[in-house]
Amino acid sequence: MRYRYFVLITAFLLFPFAISQSVHGQGRGFRGGRSTPQDDNRRVADQNLVHFLLNNHDKIKRTVKEIPNGVETTTESDDAQVAAKIQEHVRWMKVRVEKSKPIRMRDLLFRELFQHTDKIKMVVKSTDKGVHVTETSNDPYVAKLIQAHAKVVSGFVAKGFAEARQNHSAPSRVEAPNEVPAARKNNPGRENRKK
Ligand code: HEM
Repeated sequence: MRYRYFVLITAFLLFPFAISQSVHGQGRGFRGGRSTPQDDNRRVADQNLVHFLLNNHDKIKRTVKEIPNGVETTTESDDAQVAAKIQEHVRWMKVRVEKSKPIRMRDLLFRELFQHTDKIKMVVKSTDKGVHVTETSNDPYVAKLIQAHAKVVSGFVAKGFAEARQNHSAPSRVEAPNEVPAARKNNPGRENRKK
């Protein structure tokens, strides 16, 4: 009888933890609702994941195709453990983009990217050995940011920690192709004016 009570009470106490594990895979994830950067309960887990990937960068292969509004990337490894960690990293980075939870704020490019997360669309598909990601934006400047970030990730894959120690500049706004200058947008020519 006592044993039955013990099992029941233990199951009751462990239930919330078990749910958290099954939802987030690797321990606790972000809490819902509004939060501050200090309230980032994924920071250590994400840093550990990133360190693992940087340590194993020579087991990773990556291709990047630039498309007009962003990139299509494939990042894979023949090593099953590394492949799983790539998938896990990207899954959590997608959550960071969607919830605007910045990481690596000392790096201007990452800082800038996280200021425009509302304009980023990220579609992640797992492959047998990693991920295929399509990341786009309708804003030409944000598309440039996405492309610049993809180049930095390729640098992480090529050089590991040597690249991670560097800071990266953000592309200048005028470089974005097909961008309508703000002055013209706010003051359209005769042909665009409403009659
Ligand atoms: C060898 C190391 C790494 C690999 C293989 C890797 C892989 C990836 C991949 C495949 C993506 C999806 C976007 C894309 O393909 O361009 C991504 C996104 C991201 N990664 Fe990593 N990454 C690595 C290192 C890092 C490091 C060191 C950081 C920062 C501490 C980081 C932060 C991010 C962030 C914030 C995103 C989402 C932002 C975005 O995609 O625009 N990654 N990573």
